[in-house]
Amino acid sequence: MSKSYDIGVIAGDGTGPEVIRESIKVLKAAAQRFGFSLNFVEYDFGGTRYLKTGEVLPESAVGELRKFKALLLGAIGHPDVKPGILEKGILLRLRFELDMYINLRPVKLFPGVDCPLKDKTPADIDFVVVRENTEGLYAGAGGFFKKGTPDEVAVQESINTRKGVERCIRYAFEYCKKRNIGNKLTLCGKTNVLTYAFDLWERAFYEVAKEYPTIKADYAHVDAITMWFVKNPEWFDVIVTDNMFGDIITDLGAMIQGGMGIAAGGNINPEGTSMFEPIGGSAPKYTGKNIINPLAAICAGGLLLDYLGEAEAGKTIESAVMHITGERLKSLAAGNMGFSTSEVGDMVANCLLGVLHIY
Ligand code: IPM
Ligand code: MN
Repeated sequence: MSKSYDIGVIAGDGTGPEVIRESIKVLKAAAQRFGFSLNFVEYDFGGTRYLKTGEVLPESAVGELRKFKALLLGAIGHPDVKPGILEKGILLRLRFELDMYINLRPVKLFPGVDCPLKDKTPADIDFVVVRENTEGLYAGAGGFFKKGTPDEVAVQESINTRKGVERCIRYAFEYCKKRNIGNKLTLCGKTNVLTYAFDLWERAFYEVAKEYPTIKADYAHVDAITMWFVKNPEWFDVIVTDNMFGDIITDLGAMIQGGMGIAAGGNINPEGTSMFEPIGGSAPKYTGKNIINPLAAICAGGLLLDYLGEAEAGKTIESAVMHITGERLKSLAAGNMGFSTSEVGDMVANCLLGVLHIY
C-alpha cells in the first residue's frame, strides 16, 4: 500500500488562503508523481475567526493539531486586530506548546530572481539558518516595575537553557552533515557583549563540534554577519543562532534571496509536530485579487515533504520552482509576475506532472 499522510492546514488571513490553495495544488501533483497520498484537514484559525468569536484558538486546538506530524500555515494577521494578539495567540503559542524548537530558513537565490546585491548569482547565495525557536528573548521572561510612573522599569530577559541550546546546535550539526555542501556550521552570537547567554552557546557549540570532525565549526558576531550577508554571502553554509538574532538575520536573508515572495520556513519539532509557512505576511491589500506570488507557500510545501521523509518529492518541488523563476516569471512581485497566482501554481504543478518539462 502506498504511504498516506494527514496534513493540518491553517490557511489563515489575507492572501493566506490564496497561496495555500496553490501550495496544496502542487503538493497533490507531487503526491501523484511520487506515489503517495495526502489528506488535508483545514482549520479556520486566524483574524477573521477571532473577530467573529473573540477566541484566538479554541480550547481543543492545540491537542488536535498535535495529532498531525505536519502542518501547513498560510499567513496570520488582520488589519482590524491589534498587532501581537494573533502572533502570540497562534504562531508563538503553537511553537511553544508543540515544542517546535527549530526554525529552519533556507536562503537560496533562485535562477532569474532579482537580487539586490550587485554581482551576486545563485552560486553565491545558498545557505540555511537554523534559529532556536522556543527560548531566548521570546520566552516572555521579565516584567514591569512601577509601570506607568516616571520610575517605570521594564525588564525582558533572554532565557537560554543548556538543554534548549544544545538540542538546537545538535540539530544544526546534523543538518549540515546531511546537507553535505559546504560542511561548515557558523555560530552567530555576540560573545563580546552577551557574556552569559553566548558563553553558554559557545561552550555547547564547541563541545558538540567534537562529535562532528568533518564539519568546520566557525563563529561570527551577529553584527558582522549582517555585513557579510550583504558583502560575502558565499561564505555561509549553515548558521545556527538564538531566537532573536535568528528572527532578524532571516529577514535580511529573505531580502538577499529576492524577497518575501520566495522565502519559506519550517517550525520544526524533529520528534513531534512541525509547521511550514511562507514567511511573508497576510498582505491585506492584495487579498482576493489572484495576484500574490504563491512560490513561498509552494516552497514551504517542499520543506514539509522533506520533513515527512519524501525528500525526492520535496527536492523536485524546488527544481520546478527554480524552473519557473528562471524561465517564466517576469518578477516575484505581486501583480508583476506576468501570471496570476493560480497560473503560477498551475505551472509548478504541471512541471511536476511532466506536462511542462523541467529537465
Ligand atoms: C517570524 C515572525 C514572528 C517572529 C512574529 C510574527 C511573531 O517574524 O516567524 O520570524 O518574530 O518569530
Ligand atoms: Mn521574523
